[in-house]
Amino acid sequence: MASAVRAIVLAAGKGTRMNSALPKVLHAAAGRPILHYVLDRCEELGAETVVVVGHQAETVRDSCAPREGLAFATQEPQLGTGHAVQVALRAVPDDANCPVLILAGDVPLLRTETLRALCALREGSAAAAALVSFRTAAPAAYGRILRDPSGRVAAIVEAKDATAEQRLIDEVNASLYVFDGRKLRATIQDLQPNNAQGEFYLTDVIGLLVAAGERVEALLVTDATEATGVNTTTELSAVERDLYERRTRALLAAGVSIERPDTVLIGPDVRVGTGARIRAFTILEGSTVVEAGASVGPFCRIENSRIGPNATILDSCLIRNSTVEAGASVGPFAHIRPDSVVGENAKVGNFVELKKTSLGPGSKAPHLSYLGDATIGGKANIGAGTITCNYDGVVKSPTAIEDGAFVGSNSILVAPVRVGRGAYVAAGSVITKDVPADALGVGRARQENKPGWASRRPKKH
Ligand code: UD1
Ligand code: CA
Repeated sequence: MASAVRAIVLAAGKGTRMNSALPKVLHAAAGRPILHYVLDRCEELGAETVVVVGHQAETVRDSCAPREGLAFATQEPQLGTGHAVQVALRAVPDDANCPVLILAGDVPLLRTETLRALCALREGSAAAAALVSFRTAAPAAYGRILRDPSGRVAAIVEAKDATAEQRLIDEVNASLYVFDGRKLRATIQDLQPNNAQGEFYLTDVIGLLVAAGERVEALLVTDATEATGVNTTTELSAVERDLYERRTRALLAAGVSIERPDTVLIGPDVRVGTGARIRAFTILEGSTVVEAGASVGPFCRIENSRIGPNATILDSCLIRNSTVEAGASVGPFAHIRPDSVVGENAKVGNFVELKKTSLGPGSKAPHLSYLGDATIGGKANIGAGTITCNYDGVVKSPTAIEDGAFVGSNSILVAPVRVGRGAYVAAGSVITKDVPADALGVGRARQENKPGWASRRPKKH
């Protein structure tokens, strides 16, 4: 089925002003490349999309690999935004009734509703093109929108080509357009690089269309931040702040409680359930899910992890690629490393590190432990200072602690080793052999008391 709209996303530029080896569109805001926000908008519109790649084309294309249905056009060398569209159009079927959206890849705050309004404006006015403009007190490097005496869009002049008078114009081009496909195709061939940068400017298409008697509309958006293009790391951090603000505002509106939202960073792919509580200075990243009734923070960072219903993550924890089941409690000051599971109603206390370890339901590791490559059953008790020696300098080995086992404080479990169901390990043991179910394992020097030793000891003068 032919889609109702086609999109071209411009992502071939180097982004010189970022002063970075990484292509501009791959710089991350709130944990995702800025290009991907624009691609999300295309996806929401159901647009068939061509991404123009050029500078580090391979890297940009690879970053899009998880997305389906994208086409790519390679622009080499990069001779300007107009040239990018010339290249892209070769990959776009020439069907008469399909409008073509053109979006810069560096506008991550863009909203889908704005693109819908842009398409509706062009269709409603039978214009050859419609573009998004906004007013700014600092028009700086943006292209200025020139209007004729009756107020109609006449052309766009780039800042570097503008006269001093034109530079005073505060209505600027957001680099978001929709075109009648046929008219775009006919006009794009006429571009000339006779300008300050020696480039083929897409913006010149507007003037050419108007000169040919066509109508061009501008959708003047009042929220300028939405149309902000990222050209410098300073702009990137401002955009990122807006993305986070939007996210916390939406979550608050959905019934999530967020303490001091200005200090909380919640990524775009994070899900937070209604009635969850996110405390101050907390960062939720990647594909993290916080279920209803859970509480996280203050000062926690959770990455790609699931925090189950009514679980509590206390102050200053780092949790990565792990799961904390319903009703469990973690922290303060716990480090849950990848591939760990804290079972239902289990407890991980302060200064405890888990790595590739599952702690079964109702089990407790309340203080000062390192548990690595361990499988711990339900209702087990891991005493303060327990360490799994999982690494001998060459290989990592597993530790199993079965249901209901009790590991006394300051024990060292030298893996591979097993503590059987319901077994005890005496405090201070170094366990190098399996402890059978129901047994007591003692592995420490026996204490000997020497009566009267202290008074017989030579005295100091
Ligand atoms: C462009 C517009 C300007 C507008 C501004 C908004 C032109 C000539 N100017 O300027 O009117 O106000 O965006 O942010 O279009 N790109 C390519 N191939 C190229 C050059 C650029 O794909 O040969 C891509 C870039 O990767 C980027 C986008 O086009 O995603 C915009 O390029 P950029 O260099 O940022 O344009 P501006 O100078 O900001
Ligand atoms: Ca730009």
